[in-house]
Amino acid sequence: MFIGREQELNFLNSRYHSKNAELIFLYGRYRIGKTETLHEFCKDKEHIFYSCQECPDNIQLRNFSQSLLKENIKASQYLSTFHDWKQVLSSIIELPYKEKKLIIIDEFPYMCKNNKSIPSILQNLWDTTLKNENVMIILCGSAMSFIEK
Ligand SMILES: Nc1ncnc2c1ncn2[C@@H]1O[C@H](COP(=O)(O)OP(=O)(O)OP(=O)(O)O)[C@@H](O)[C@H]1O
Ligand SMILES: [Mg+2]
Repeated sequence: MFIGREQELNFLNSRYHSKNAELIFLYGRYRIGKTETLHEFCKDKEHIFYSCQECPDNIQLRNFSQSLLKENIKASQYLSTFHDWKQVLSSIIELPYKEKKLIIIDEFPYMCKNNKSIPSILQNLWDTTLKNENVMIILCGSAMSFIEK
């Protein structure tokens, strides 16, 4: 049973219902309830919830690609995987959701561990396209200090 976290859920819901694109970094101590709060937040919304694993970069790319291609985006008609991170992250805007295109990436540090360029690819895409789209991207992890840097 999920208990409390009203302030956190209210914050996330207000971002979800904003008119802007939202990029949110959720980080905090180990076992404090980050993942559980995100599950509670997204349970009644169209979304992708991707949990990164500690694995080689090409496997991470394949797994993350699958989670997008399952959502009936246009690319799924002609691709079985994406070739690179820029391509897969760009495809977020194709998600056929009625409301915000919500994508949650949990354990994000695992995604970056074997590909140090992912934060800068995402930053570049955000600045050029994603920030003008109806998207909400939440990056979560307990060891996000490298992002602050
Ligand atoms: N609001 C809540 N109500 C009830 N149980 C909760 C709540 N938040 C967390 N828990 C429970 O506490 C445990 C730890 O929560 P969770 O896995 O979400 O933490 P986390 O911050 O994501 O941890 P990690 O840093 O290991 O990823 C889980 O068993 C979860 O079910
Ligand atoms: Mg967690």
